[in-house]
Amino acid sequence: MRVGLISGLLLSAMTTVAPALAQETADAVAPEAAATGQVQALSPEATAAQEAKANGQPVEAQNWMVAAANPLAVEAGANILRAGGTAADAMVAVQVVLGLVEPQSSGLGGGAFLVWYDATSGEMTTLDARETAPRAATPTLFQDESGEPLKFFDAVVGGLSVGTPGTPALLEEAHRRWGSTPWPSLFADGIRLAEGGFAVSPRLAGLVEGDAERLSRFPATAEYFLPGGTPLAEGDLLKNPAYAETLRVLAQEGAAGFYGGDIAAGIVNTVRSAPGNPGVLAGIDLALYQVIEREPVCATYRAFEVCGMGPPSSGALTVGQILGTLNSYDLAALGADSTEAWRLIGDASRLAFADRGRYMADSDFVPVPTSGLVDPDYLAGRAALLNAEAALAEVSAGSPEFDHALNWADDESIELPSTSHISIVDAQGNVLSMTTTIENGFGSRLMTNGFLLNNELTDFSFRSHSDGVPIANRMEPGKRPRSSMSPTIVMQDGKPVLAIGSPGGSRIIGYVAKSIIAWADWGMDVQQALALPHLVNRFGTYDVEEGTSAADMADALTALGYEVNARDLTSGLHAIEIGDTLRGGADPRREGIALGE
Ligand code: GLY
Repeated sequence: MRVGLISGLLLSAMTTVAPALAQETADAVAPEAAATGQVQALSPEATAAQEAKANGQPVEAQNWMVAAANPLAVEAGANILRAGGTAADAMVAVQVVLGLVEPQSSGLGGGAFLVWYDATSGEMTTLDARETAPRAATPTLFQDESGEPLKFFDAVVGGLSVGTPGTPALLEEAHRRWGSTPWPSLFADGIRLAEGGFAVSPRLAGLVEGDAERLSRFPATAEYFLPGGTPLAEGDLLKNPAYAETLRVLAQEGAAGFYGGDIAAGIVNTVRSAPGNPGVLAGIDLALYQVIEREPVCATYRAFEVCGMGPPSSGALTVGQILGTLNSYDLAALGADSTEAWRLIGDASRLAFADRGRYMADSDFVPVPTSGLVDPDYLAGRAALLNAEAALAEVSAGSPEFDHALNWADDESIELPSTSHISIVDAQGNVLSMTTTIENGFGSRLMTNGFLLNNELTDFSFRSHSDGVPIANRMEPGKRPRSSMSPTIVMQDGKPVLAIGSPGGSRIIGYVAKSIIAWADWGMDVQQALALPHLVNRFGTYDVEEGTSAADMADALTALGYEVNARDLTSGLHAIEIGDTLRGGADPRREGIALGE
């Protein structure tokens, strides 16, 4: 609900939530207290964090830090950490506000992966809250009557692409395991902002305008993003009372209030009655949703163990393969301006993406050679292929060691970037790295109960077979689509030294690998590493970041035999370096900040 125009200077409705409030239940957040309609400037700390980013400086702190995609969400997390909450507590507050102020990227209607380092036990674990395919889904869901794949946006927009959301269950599970702040109070900032309103950010306004036609197809979505038929504009004060009500239910009833009752009924009804493209999600899919704890996947790079989310994400495996393949090359000596360094990085990425396309999928449904793919001996063999003068003429999947193998065909899924990344370190030393998504920008474009529903099922391969051979990442009932999300914690001598991740579809993998190389090999601080212009190679074409020094390398890369494409590469990296002090970085390509004390 848009209620008026405010000054573009007053970018946020952020105030501090006093610790006393953080001890109250969200029940006690009276609507009239929240809905003042007053939009206040960012706190001085957040403004200073924005200035540090603009000046290319990391933010430094001693005790805790949070980095995420929107200053309002970061301040919600900071309020919890300042009051003594854990990184898991702060994550809940950050995610709840991100779902309001950056609704195009992540939210309650989506899924996420969380990597957690526990300071008390010294252990790391991961939680998989990926969306699941409905029980009524089939491998041919995204094919027409003649078995041909649907066009991407014909599949995305509407009910067909909606998987069972995992994020609400993840919030509850992370809090149950590692939280210390009373659950209801984690929703206070989200409720206050949803009821009182927040200023539409430049990025949200631009994306609404660019997607206006698709957003206009469904009445609830159109009413929210295009009130009166006009796209929201930067600085508009936007209220979302339906979202506030959903948050109140979550605060009072926990995730059960989302996966059953009126909210679940609203989701199912919205999906199954989507005009033109109804889906098959049912109440039973929501009722049976489970977060799954999984072992982290780690790969050795130089003196570090680079750890993250294993299948159904391809993130840690592919980042680990790229870095593991580069282990035998001296990138530090070559430097960040060296074409030879980028030839090695580009072709290591192509080799890893070939393996990704062949082998990586939900390992609860298909055998994945997880340890074989990051085995140092296997990667040394792949590294030997890079001993060349020019770009590899051809790249194909290798033969990693399998526990039990199947013959797979190469995947054909299409991924377009959206998503958001949160990095948090708390005063106890716990570290959280979480990437969260509704897949495409604005997901399926379907909205219910104040939040958008994901289109995560389009991360499955639209084709189920190739020449009669099954594709590992084909859709199956209850299966989780392969992801590229790469929430990462880098370890050294058993201690966490870096938390990092990014949005960006399958380019996430390149963004994260590049930033780790810049930090580990090229001596950049965390802000410099994120800001370093991108060069990303997934399937052969070298994407270089338009308008930056990366684009200056185009001729040299073309001479090596690459097809080069200059384009925007809008990552959203958020990272925290953990040493004697905490140093936080936020991607200059997006609106986020790092904040700490
Ligand atoms: N939908 C983005 C990803 O999971 O990689």
